[in-house]
Amino acid sequence: MLGKVALAICAIIFTVFAIAAIVVLSLISLYIPNQSVASISAYQTCLTVASKFATTIAGPVANITATTGVTVTCSQIGISSCPGPLINGICTWQRKLAVTCINGSTVRIRVQSNALPGRCADVPSFASMQEQNIDFEVNFNPTVSVKSQTYSPSTQSALDAIVCSISNQQYAPSGSNLTSYSSASTLTTLAGMSIDNVPILNVNSANDVDPFYPPAGYTAESVDSCLAHPQVAGIYHYHMASGCAVSPPTGNISSCSATAACAADIASYSLTTFPSSAKKLTVIGIAKDGHVIYGPYLASGNIVTSGIDICNGMFYDSIGNYAYFATTKFPYITGCFGPGNYPSFGPSCTTNGQSSYTMSVHAAAQANG
Ligand SMILES: *[C@@H]1O[C@H](CO)[C@@H](O)[C@H](O)[C@H]1NC(C)=O
Ligand SMILES: *[C@@H]1O[C@H](CO)[C@@H](O)[C@H](O)[C@H]1NC(C)=O
Ligand SMILES: *[C@@H]1O[C@H](CO)[C@@H](O)[C@H](O)[C@H]1NC(C)=O
Ligand SMILES: *[C@@H]1O[C@H](CO)[C@@H](O)[C@H](O)[C@H]1NC(C)=O
Repeated sequence: MLGKVALAICAIIFTVFAIAAIVVLSLISLYIPNQSVASISAYQTCLTVASKFATTIAGPVANITATTGVTVTCSQIGISSCPGPLINGICTWQRKLAVTCINGSTVRIRVQSNALPGRCADVPSFASMQEQNIDFEVNFNPTVSVKSQTYSPSTQSALDAIVCSISNQQYAPSGSNLTSYSSASTLTTLAGMSIDNVPILNVNSANDVDPFYPPAGYTAESVDSCLAHPQVAGIYHYHMASGCAVSPPTGNISSCSATAACAADIASYSLTTFPSSAKKLTVIGIAKDGHVIYGPYLASGNIVTSGIDICNGMFYDSIGNYAYFATTKFPYITGCFGPGNYPSFGPSCTTNGQSSYTMSVHAAAQANG
């Protein structure tokens, strides 16, 4: 009898200790990942992101266009399109880019670019490619929450008013504290800067529709096989991600229409341009709101097909980091400065949009937490 009581007491004591140990261990495992990640400072993260850019000079500089850049030569660009001297049929220009992280209690990033590519782009003879002076500074990776969304349209027309508007990324949310050092007109349609010094403009055409998969009544725009083209002010730019940013091509770039796979389905083609080394979380640019822009792949090597909001932004890790991801559906890179919501309908300015949006597991955890 006494033996049985002692055994029972022992069993109870053992159980209590076991439960206590499990509680302590699970608390530790919850705590350690957060702490080890938090110990990587925002400044360090900014430096890592900045190091992915093909910079030509250490910044900040007083005037990026007045610096000496990296010379590019090209024999397929004619006189009306050449952004520099054209001598004996050879067009020459310089690519100039400085990306600087500024430390402090709030880490900021400054982007200074002359917006000229490092490759021999295919520019239609009627269009011109011109040097720009893009210069802005913004809070790096500002903290945002799924519970405090920049946009939460509840009808398709409200969604259209946001993502089908070429001018909706003129300003960044106040939490980004965007400071512009260049003329306002240069930044009006700028959504971000790619690591290869090619600006990323708002996804929409001047008609406020998808430039590649427009609704009936609109003509698709043409780009080169790096998926870029110049606009009216001579800004050579992307609306859709290209592996040319990660793995710069040499020689003459052809047009998309002369490249069978690109002409057949530009969105699928965009995926194939990424080298296998980019089949992981890969920085391809920085948005004008200070959030990082990643290529089409997650850390797992899977392409992004869900988990994004109406702006193409995703809460992609347990820390609550928010970034934009390249996708094969409109808005392809970023359509607005989020976070946005996850409605059960898509925009009407494209024939290649999402029909509904779903939260990532990390966004859902934040929403429920
Ligand atoms: C920057 O430098 C360029 C080229 O040297 C010059 O044309 C331009 O006026 C300068 N801009 C400013 C704001 O100083
Ligand atoms: C590039 O294009 C130009 C003009 O069409 C041509 O003269 C030149 O041979 C091409 N270069 C290469 C390497 O194909
Ligand atoms: C960056 O700034 C933070 C906060 O002001 C400071 O604690 C940290 O030491 C700085 N890091 C560097 C590398 O200067
Ligand atoms: C915004 O950034 C500027 C630096 O460009 C700084 O002087 C200012 O205090 C910041 N404003 C806020 C609200 O953080």
